[in-house]
Amino acid sequence: MVEIRQARTDADYEAWREVRIATLPYERCPSVAELRAMETPERLLLLAEVDGKIVGHGLADRSSESGRAVLAPRVRPEARRQGVGSAVLRELVDHAVAHGYKFGGCSVDDEGSFAFARRFGFAETGRQVEQLRAIGTEPRPPAPTAYRIVSVAERPELWAQAYHQVALPTFPDMDLAWPMQVTAEEWAGEWIGDPAAMFLALDGDEVIGLAGLISDPDQPQRAEVGYTAVRRDWRGRGVASTLKRMSVAWAAENGLTEIYTWTQEGNANMRKLNEHLGFRYGLTSITVRGPLPLQLAE
Ligand SMILES: CC(C)(COP(=O)(O)OP(=O)(O)OC[C@H]1O[C@@H](n2cnc3c(N)ncnc32)[C@H](O)[C@@H]1OP(=O)(O)O)[C@@H](O)C(=O)NCCC(=O)NCCS
Repeated sequence: MVEIRQARTDADYEAWREVRIATLPYERCPSVAELRAMETPERLLLLAEVDGKIVGHGLADRSSESGRAVLAPRVRPEARRQGVGSAVLRELVDHAVAHGYKFGGCSVDDEGSFAFARRFGFAETGRQVEQLRAIGTEPRPPAPTAYRIVSVAERPELWAQAYHQVALPTFPDMDLAWPMQVTAEEWAGEWIGDPAAMFLALDGDEVIGLAGLISDPDQPQRAEVGYTAVRRDWRGRGVASTLKRMSVAWAAENGLTEIYTWTQEGNANMRKLNEHLGFRYGLTSITVRGPLPLQLAE
């Protein structure tokens, strides 16, 4: 019998993280402190136990994809096909419906998980491709003359400015079926790691572009590429590649061996830029979405 309970203590949060790392070993998992900082009444973290062993977990939250909840059941590979994922999904759906959501969804990275999602009425809305770059000897790019590059560690006050001047105007340019919704608080807390690894391009005091890395304390040799964007009127002038080359150089200077990013399959510009900078392709992740409440099979 599977028992499902809410994660509440720090030990529960560590157990939740263990399932996340076991099921998505290639993706940075937030620390307990970061998970605590994300807590809201809408957000629910579940643990699934069988015979006293934690075999799965769940996450329900507001999604950055507007109008839907994130509903993510995850089960350790050795405990799959025993109904654990379905039991977790039921609880997540109840929670999301109680918070007024009419749609739910998540990302699936393998055929079995996609089959599970389809069985519960989710349908594909888009794909993301993983791009990875090995880090070797990486010189810093020459300093540009038409604009300046600073790190957020040097100019911390500019991170909030970057949200308004670059992030909000460029979110609609991503190849997404639904618009992105990211609050200023989420931007301040979840979209940046070490401010020394996040770079901004400045025209005077205006932020015109940004790119950087979010390091992973669980795998210190790896980092995820953060949001990369350049204001529309500055595109085609090498701003993004210079910012990314700064990130790659920072990775080398700090002993990293690999960086990775997820890009929408249809975002040809970003994919090409990454290819140009030496990224290779990895996994493909499918975004799924379905109406709530789901038609859950008993
Ligand atoms: C998706 C996931 C949570 C399913 O967990 P699970 O405990 O194995 O799922 P269940 O046993 O409840 O499966 C319910 C039904 O989904 C379908 N299903 C689940 N896994 C499947 C697979 N590998 N292949 C085909 N169908 C599958 C089946 O219809 C299954 O019923 P059945 O076993 O009676 O045929 C698990 O594979 C996982 O953790 N994947 C990685 C994380 C992830 O992508 N989560 C998001 C899912 S929206």
